[in-house]
Amino acid sequence: MCGIIGYIGEGDVAEFLVKGLKRLEYRGYDSAGISLIAGGLISTVKCGGNISKLEKKLEKVEFKDAKLGIGHTRWATHGEPTDENAHPHTSCKDEIAIAHNGIIENYKTLKKMLMDKGHAFKSDTDSEVIAHLIEEFYDGDLESAVARAVKSIEGAYAIASIHKSEDRIVVACKSSPIVIGFGDGAMFIASDAAALVGNTNKVVYLSDGEIASVMCDRIHVRKLNGESVNKQVKRLDASLSDVEKGGFKHFMLKEIFEQPESLSNLIRGRVRGNSVKLTLNVNLNSVSRIIIIACGTSWHSAIIGKYIIENLIRVPVEVDYASEFKYRNPIIGRGDLVIAISQSGETADTIGAVRAAKQKGARVIGIVNVVGSTISREVDGGIYLRAGPEISVASTKAFTSQVLALLLFALYARQARGGVADNQLLNEITDLPNMVDRVLDNAKIVERIAEDLAQKRNFLYLGRGINYPVALEGALKLKEISYIHAEGYPAGEMKHGPIALIDEGFPVVFISPKDGLYDKVVSNMEEVKARKAIVIAVINEIDENVRQVADYIIEVPKTSPLVSPIINVIPLQLLAYYIADLKGVDVDRPRNLAKSVTVE
Ligand code: G6P
Repeated sequence: MCGIIGYIGEGDVAEFLVKGLKRLEYRGYDSAGISLIAGGLISTVKCGGNISKLEKKLEKVEFKDAKLGIGHTRWATHGEPTDENAHPHTSCKDEIAIAHNGIIENYKTLKKMLMDKGHAFKSDTDSEVIAHLIEEFYDGDLESAVARAVKSIEGAYAIASIHKSEDRIVVACKSSPIVIGFGDGAMFIASDAAALVGNTNKVVYLSDGEIASVMCDRIHVRKLNGESVNKQVKRLDASLSDVEKGGFKHFMLKEIFEQPESLSNLIRGRVRGNSVKLTLNVNLNSVSRIIIIACGTSWHSAIIGKYIIENLIRVPVEVDYASEFKYRNPIIGRGDLVIAISQSGETADTIGAVRAAKQKGARVIGIVNVVGSTISREVDGGIYLRAGPEISVASTKAFTSQVLALLLFALYARQARGGVADNQLLNEITDLPNMVDRVLDNAKIVERIAEDLAQKRNFLYLGRGINYPVALEGALKLKEISYIHAEGYPAGEMKHGPIALIDEGFPVVFISPKDGLYDKVVSNMEEVKARKAIVIAVINEIDENVRQVADYIIEVPKTSPLVSPIINVIPLQLLAYYIADLKGVDVDRPRNLAKSVTVE
């Protein structure tokens, strides 16, 4: 949510900043801006709207001899996405500029205090107080002024700041990431390592409560109490092809088609013969209850995880929205294990829930995609998804990898608890990339269905058992990128309410693999067909019953029920994608959403 970029060194600073902002645009696209130090002055260009609008504005501006600058792309929290509310924000005297991610909870008090001292504010944002606070504390040393400013702030922040007379960028963070990249005679700053790919593979992740001065050839990191910190330089393992569209029209489509590869990356080295090897740092023998916490799409994989884990190790599993978990004073005991699932590893609600669970003494493991992210650093152990950067706001490859990671976790726990290996499951897991390839081969069929249905205003998605959360995920995908109202429901519950919605031409998507509940789901199809609905069925093999009731059939390979969500969700991802694309909306950057929501 929101993106920060920074650059210090030779070359075209503005060009680098804009390029970086484009990479970060998936984190927020309400407004954007850059501030550079040129000719001893701070020069800021910003506007409401997306980066291309900013680029237009920049065509008329020349930054002479700029050596450093910061930029920001915004997802509005406080204040509308106007030119004034766009970042960077400058102080009264225009000597300081800042870009901020997060929320300053005590900004009203700070703003009043600063206004009483004569500071005039130009925006409605909480972030602007940071620029004024730094100005208030500045006495010739930006680093000290930033340190004093952040001590006054309550809430989450990642801040990049510059002063017109200093040759450095000062950054600080708490509960919102900052990564610093080492280049050749240049240094980079970003709120997300994806923005640095192709420029450097040597990075340092700032930890909570740290502050860094970034010069063109070195950094100095310290804690807020002044103590110097020796940071370890980490390797950034991503390539340009990971963060570019590679011939696909949208990142979402590219990421859907990357699933055979992302799934095989997850399996590699972890499935060996008939066993699963993981390093979790947790004793699974003593676990008597598991609580999974997550948000959005990750929450859907969590519900699938409940079915998988309870089935394979017979340990009760609860699933909670991370945003609810923290505030309901959850009952957590010694035998509990908490699993936090997050693609980004930066979702504020999930971070809050992880901290609450740890405070109560629970052991916490993470299922996370982004290496080095806050959740990955705070948990006791976990599983990295290795899915590569997911740029499209709508999550696809991370979702299937999360489900597979839960499957690996459950199989590993079963081994650890002395259970027998499930060879059929292991074989199917190894074959998953091939099976997903086969589903993707039928993308054209889904595209044609999308052409017929793109004008519909409502959709219902129905599934049972482990495929009920797949229905939820299918509906979420459609609504978040196409703005069509869609609901997911357990098929058996349809008769208790949603059936009232059904009338002629209402599209109902059924996830109906050939499992123990198949006949019941086919009966549900008949019920909606009797009310003249349009039936779209995701099934394993066409039989006479389905042929008679379904208007559209999407065949997918048959697997064990526990593996089936990974296969069944793919046509639903494609359906949502093609419908959204036909509607001509911005598929990768749906309105009002952000890829990672770093505010509560
Ligand atoms: C946002 C995104 C969703 C995502 C959710 C959780 O709301 O728009 O696509 O599922 O955050 O994100 P996480 O990174 O924690 O999985």
